[in-house]
Amino acid sequence: MDEMNGFRRFRRLRQTAGLRRMVQETRLSPEDFIYPLFVTHGVDVRAEVPSMPDVYQLSVDQLPREIDDLRAHGIGATILFGIPEHKDPQGSDAYSPDGIVQRAIRTIKEHDPEFVVMGDVCLCEYTDHGHCGLLDGERILNDPTLELLAHTAVAQAEAGVDIVAPSDMMDGRVAAIRRGLDAVGFVETPIVSYAAKYASAFYGPFRDAAESTPSFGDRRSHQMDPANAREAYAEIAADIAEGADAIMVKPALAYLDVIAGARERFDVPLFAYNVSGEYAMIRAAGRNGWIDERRATLEALTAIKRAGAGQIITYHAKQAAAWLQEDWTSARRGVRSGVTAS
Ligand code: PBG
Repeated sequence: MDEMNGFRRFRRLRQTAGLRRMVQETRLSPEDFIYPLFVTHGVDVRAEVPSMPDVYQLSVDQLPREIDDLRAHGIGATILFGIPEHKDPQGSDAYSPDGIVQRAIRTIKEHDPEFVVMGDVCLCEYTDHGHCGLLDGERILNDPTLELLAHTAVAQAEAGVDIVAPSDMMDGRVAAIRRGLDAVGFVETPIVSYAAKYASAFYGPFRDAAESTPSFGDRRSHQMDPANAREAYAEIAADIAEGADAIMVKPALAYLDVIAGARERFDVPLFAYNVSGEYAMIRAAGRNGWIDERRATLEALTAIKRAGAGQIITYHAKQAAAWLQEDWTSARRGVRSGVTAS
């Protein structure tokens, strides 16, 4: 039998770990990862999120140690979410100069100025009703919310944030934030917009972590319908036109087609958010012995990168970085890697 007889021997290049490694098309690196941090009020707080094993709400004083740990794993970026002591209808902690995220940014930047700090810009963690904007009865008001989002971005920029990342999905927020930043001289602060953000069930554990579950209703009046892909490209195009420097698709694993489509259509950096529910599922199945957690995690992250994401926001970041390090070490020594054929 030979190729002339109608088949190709694909297995030739799969015979050894060395060959497989050589022809691998997608390689993960800790530098691909952005690790989300939940910053809470209080002192000496390290509270594990029940639905997200190994993910903690941290008080500001814990951050320098956490950043050192991320550095040790080869990770150079974080995105911050805040859990304020007081919530109100306007979400004022989000844009207060002394708000929880602003304090976190200053603390991290003092400790490690080169560590990349992104600020999530949204009101839902800061409003007592848990919605992403100002309310009129049960309606979320678009235009009046824009001003508060711009204030939030400016407050983060004043604290020294590297990137602002609006996740609220109000229409026109990128333009409003750009105008707000420019007006006070932050013309160099980049905006990474959560451009295609779906109304997803996979955010469930995050809302435990960020204490941001809406007190009534849901987010379907502003986040996207999971059934729509064309609309995602329209959202992305609009955000780029408004001044977004980079874009994000969220969640990641159930939306790999949207990541691939966005990669093909738009020439800006493309972030993907591997969200809390996606993390929790793999962790839960792993804990139960129902899945090989290491392989499943690296496979999922590889898929997100293969689909076209350049940056991956993921709660798996530290563990994945440690596993990648182990794989490299064994590859360098010529030892068979942990991944065996099955
Ligand atoms: C909104 C925000 C959410 C997430 C990131 N930013 C929650 C939401 O839209 O309800 C979800 C992230 C995750 O699930 O990991 N500030």
